[in-house]
Amino acid sequence: MLPGKLLLIDDDGNLLKIITMRLESMGYDVTAVRDGEEAKGALSAGRFDLAVIDLQLGEENGISLMEELRPLQPGMPVIILTAYGSIESAVDAIKRGAYTYLTKPFDPRELSLHIERALETGRLTTEIERLKGLLVERNDFGEIVARSERMRRVLEVVSRISGNDSTICIQGESGTGKEVIARAIHMASARRDRPFVAINCAAIPEGLLESELFGHERGAFTGAIKNSKGLFAEAHEGTMLLDEMGDMPLAIQSKFLRVIQERKFYPLGSTRPVAVDLRVIVATNRNLEELVKSGGFREDLYYRVNVIPVTLPPLRERLEDIPLLAEIFLRKFSCRMKKEIKGFTPGALQHLMLHDWPGNVRELENAVEYAVAMTSSNFITEELILPEKKRFPFSFEPMKPLKEAREKFERDYLSRLLEQTGGNVSNAAGIAGKYRSDFYLLLKKHGMNPADFKKPPAMN
Ligand SMILES: Nc1ncnc2c1ncn2[C@@H]1O[C@H](COP(=O)(O)OP(=O)(O)OP(=O)(O)O)[C@@H](O)[C@H]1O
Ligand SMILES: [Mg+2]
Repeated sequence: MLPGKLLLIDDDGNLLKIITMRLESMGYDVTAVRDGEEAKGALSAGRFDLAVIDLQLGEENGISLMEELRPLQPGMPVIILTAYGSIESAVDAIKRGAYTYLTKPFDPRELSLHIERALETGRLTTEIERLKGLLVERNDFGEIVARSERMRRVLEVVSRISGNDSTICIQGESGTGKEVIARAIHMASARRDRPFVAINCAAIPEGLLESELFGHERGAFTGAIKNSKGLFAEAHEGTMLLDEMGDMPLAIQSKFLRVIQERKFYPLGSTRPVAVDLRVIVATNRNLEELVKSGGFREDLYYRVNVIPVTLPPLRERLEDIPLLAEIFLRKFSCRMKKEIKGFTPGALQHLMLHDWPGNVRELENAVEYAVAMTSSNFITEELILPEKKRFPFSFEPMKPLKEAREKFERDYLSRLLEQTGGNVSNAAGIAGKYRSDFYLLLKKHGMNPADFKKPPAMN
């Protein structure tokens, strides 16, 4: 028997004492009160698994009281005690939502039997409510949490586009769930039984990326000792996710463009084209439009992949998702680490809501994993949430990829230089140690115009 928390309401002090003692001896946690006011007080102060209410409470009626108490704790089962065996009242009680009734005098064992059954029902109801809640949260996309308006809109778009084969471009900061969304699109499409192949363009050295994607014939290059199919061919009839698309080298971009346009490609060292049927999804945490401007990304490819843009908002812009995500991660890790953790303390939740999560959902997941691993109690307390933040009380700008950081530096450098020289290219190029023509190319790459830096003639 799981212990239950019972609220007993009877105006007869003696009976109240006797029943309380009996129920306590059976292991229940009993709160005994004498009227409706006290009952409401008790219910407002804490949760109960069950209430036992006497039908005749002096001036009050037990059934009406039951109805008054319901909003305070919806779903709590109620047993009505009828003193006079009045069958009408008993039937009335059931009709108005009591779990059952008992006629006084009753056998304590009978009471305990009814209580046990009612508690069991209550537990089931709670469990069902919990599961229903999960179903509502779950939506069509399995495990994706989308409580916030912005994420709901994302899922709406995603559900509309899953069915066709258009190329999708998912943009979002690192850890916002780009891969999760890409998989969801695949699973919601007719291609779901075919492969989903993902490749991270930033993680593979340029020399290898090409043969990874397109495959090669034996002898195509040193070390190519046998034919390799390549990932595009492996994803045939399925979905191909090109993650960190912004890092795809220019030389490979043009070959990839052909895959998108013609649905065929040549493996390295081969003159026979391979035809593929693919749904292409690209993901990037860099702004492709800016990359196009700076010459790091082909413009024609950009228009080809950016058919349907999906932008994932950073976690700090969808705070409503944090509690549920944290809860899901908590369950996942406490199950994995075999710990019985009931939840977060309010202070811990507040910490979670206040942090700005530069690493987004992934950072949140890691923070919860850390807290679950470190806790020695049933709750996650605030000290366990991002304790390293206390050691570094300032927040860092998230690190950029080297290429991006270099670009930014170059842009800032050029604009300071032009400001200093008042837009005089010869002087600026001289300071930078560049030929004028090279310097012009640099400016063009960043879309800068020296005329913008010319100082207006002095007015007097
Ligand atoms: N809406 C969500 N609901 C549940 N889990 C999520 C959600 N978004 C992200 N996650 C989880 O967060 C982690 C990071 O997600 P994912 O790898 O898809 O991010 P990403 O945007 O591809 O990151 P990166 O830019 O670093 O590649 C994963 O463990 C994923 O399961
Ligand atoms: Mg990713």
